[in-house]
Amino acid sequence: MQQKFTSSSKMNDLIKEDTSLLLTMTRFGFSLGFGDKTVKEVCMEKKVDEKTFLAVINFISNGYKEENINHEIISIDAVILYLRNAHDFFLDFKLPLIRKKLIEAIDSCVQEQPYRKMIMKFYDDYVAEVQKHMDYENETVFPYVLSLLEGKKNPRYNIAVFEKNHENIDSKLSDLKNILIKYFPAQQPNYLLNEVLFDLSACEKDLEKHNRVEDHFFVPITETLEKKLSTAVKEEPTAAEKVDNLTEREKEILVSVVKGLTNKEIANKLFLSTHTVISHRRNITRKLEIHSTAGLTIYAIVNKLVTLDEIKSVIE
Ligand SMILES: [Fe+2]
Ligand SMILES: [Fe+2]
Repeated sequence: MQQKFTSSSKMNDLIKEDTSLLLTMTRFGFSLGFGDKTVKEVCMEKKVDEKTFLAVINFISNGYKEENINHEIISIDAVILYLRNAHDFFLDFKLPLIRKKLIEAIDSCVQEQPYRKMIMKFYDDYVAEVQKHMDYENETVFPYVLSLLEGKKNPRYNIAVFEKNHENIDSKLSDLKNILIKYFPAQQPNYLLNEVLFDLSACEKDLEKHNRVEDHFFVPITETLEKKLSTAVKEEPTAAEKVDNLTEREKEILVSVVKGLTNKEIANKLFLSTHTVISHRRNITRKLEIHSTAGLTIYAIVNKLVTLDEIKSVIE
């Protein structure tokens, strides 16, 4: 499918098309003052993975269609950094700012303390839930995914667990908005309160987008990564392949070892230093994952590097 934005799209045009993309840009580390620069130029300048940035921007702009994501070109590190920056934005900036405006708005139009207290409790409880939700992602989910990149798979966790329990965190904001619109006992028109309502709506939409990126972009990419890793584990080299991975020199040294020669004798025989022989032996052990001479002997026989007759005197 033809993507809406490409490397040669101007950053300026992206914002003109959809102002809310500015938030996505900021979370990728871009600052305003783009001039006529293209996506490619700005990404190079800021060292942001261009393909990942375009994939996220196009995903959001094209209506969150999972089928259009090319998993092979995405940098999951860049996606995680983007999501973490979004968490910081909500927790450290947007939600505290709304709180401040909410107090100001309530204080300016109602005198009754219980209203203030109840509304603020509702808001603070909500923020605590968001904090918990995002802490879990920062401290459990993202480290898990980053460990997949290092080829490690936690056997007790997978992204399906996260997907199953991942809740929408925007719905409660909608509740608060409705409480204010329908039941708030404001005696007169209040611009501050209107401002809070606009902020709550914008934040609700932004959180909903964030959730969609996590559910339909981050989760499927992580699933692909998990599948690749489990295939890689299954494709562990067989014993024969491991032997083939040994260099000719290492095979020569392995045979000498199982024939009972010492490092010094092997060094003399192959015109090498003892130090080089030890280094080769270390590599053989690492590649075959066998540490003892007895183990190496069995290995050499099974893989026909030596015959039983050749080492008869050593093993008897
Ligand atoms: Fe999140
Ligand atoms: Fe989330």
